[in-house]
Amino acid sequence: MTTAQHPLPSGFGAASTAEEVIKGVDLTGKVAIVTGGYSGIGLETARVLRSAGAEVVVPARDLERARAALQDVPGAEVEYLDLLDPASIDAFAEKFLASGRPLHILVDSAGIMATPLTRDARGYEAQFATNHLGHFQLVARLWPALVAADGARVVAVSSRGIRFGNVDFDDLHFEHRPYEAFAAYGQSKTANALFAVELDRRGRDQGVRAFAVHPGTIIETGLAKHVSAEVVRAAGVLDEHGRPVRDPSRQLKTVEQGAATGVWCATSPQLTGLGGVYCENSDVSPLVTEADEAEWRAGAETPGVLSYAVDPEAAARLWEVSERLTA
Ligand SMILES: NC(=O)c1ccc[n+]([C@@H]2O[C@H](COP(=O)([O-])OP(=O)(O)OC[C@H]3O[C@@H](n4cnc5c(N)ncnc54)[C@H](OP(=O)(O)O)[C@@H]3O)[C@@H](O)[C@H]2O)c1
Repeated sequence: MTTAQHPLPSGFGAASTAEEVIKGVDLTGKVAIVTGGYSGIGLETARVLRSAGAEVVVPARDLERARAALQDVPGAEVEYLDLLDPASIDAFAEKFLASGRPLHILVDSAGIMATPLTRDARGYEAQFATNHLGHFQLVARLWPALVAADGARVVAVSSRGIRFGNVDFDDLHFEHRPYEAFAAYGQSKTANALFAVELDRRGRDQGVRAFAVHPGTIIETGLAKHVSAEVVRAAGVLDEHGRPVRDPSRQLKTVEQGAATGVWCATSPQLTGLGGVYCENSDVSPLVTEADEAEWRAGAETPGVLSYAVDPEAAARLWEVSERLTA
């Protein structure tokens, strides 16, 4: 277990915004890639990194929509990439490497949630393939640029959805168990958290540090499009008029607040020398103790990460499996 997995404390909190946590940070001369940077949390992340001076590249599977979404982020570059299409990941990375630029910040914000059972061309379950394997391959291909930055950070946008499921190494693609959309989301988000643990272990000697992030619950992004109105209502995230409830103390955040932890992980000097930790509310999360685990899994609103999502042995195993699955 990583011993760094406890609040610093940073002085920030659940209500902090991305603009607040990046205040005073100058990213002139730095290069950032933000997957999913044309919607929701990723778009706000791209906007704030750009406003601090970074060159920002947004990989997108819908170039036109991405350009339209980014029109208020002057200078943001848009390039084609579909995380479910390995050839497009290779092509994106090759083009980036050919530009000769180092990569200082990679925020893996793209994701899908609770989709009906879908398989990609390889037969892989789509949430695991998009949220984890696509990003795994992207990091692997961009590795020379990350190392060349001589101090790079990778942010894996995970989720409190880790509570819905651990990684099932015996049936990653739901071939032998009934498909359950949130269990598949939970598996993919636990994979994001484990990826940060092992990536950091492997990368730190070459200056590449990795963090996993729970952004909070931000209902007005595109993420819940596969979730029924009934389930959304039952989650208590909308008021009686159908408007988002704002209560950061219960993780119910604005997009600006939702982007804060990822931006903090990507840029804060408070994290110098750290990595491989799971963060939320712009601070490192505490580890959920065994005594609190049942309550936390049932929906406790206190911050925390379950031990299985930062388990170094599972993280190493996931890395090996992911290498095989992405060739
Ligand atoms: N919102 C929340 O409450 C919440 C809570 C916990 C964690 N998160 C995590 O935060 C991240 C961002 O979510 P969000 O709420 O900002 O959702 P969002 O608005 O739906 O943004 C997700 C982005 O990912 C892109 N994407 C999806 N599949 C892709 C693929 N195959 N290739 C390339 N890009 C792809 C989407 O592009 P398209 O529009 O083309 O599909 C979109 O730009 C996700 O990883 C999510 O799991 C969100």
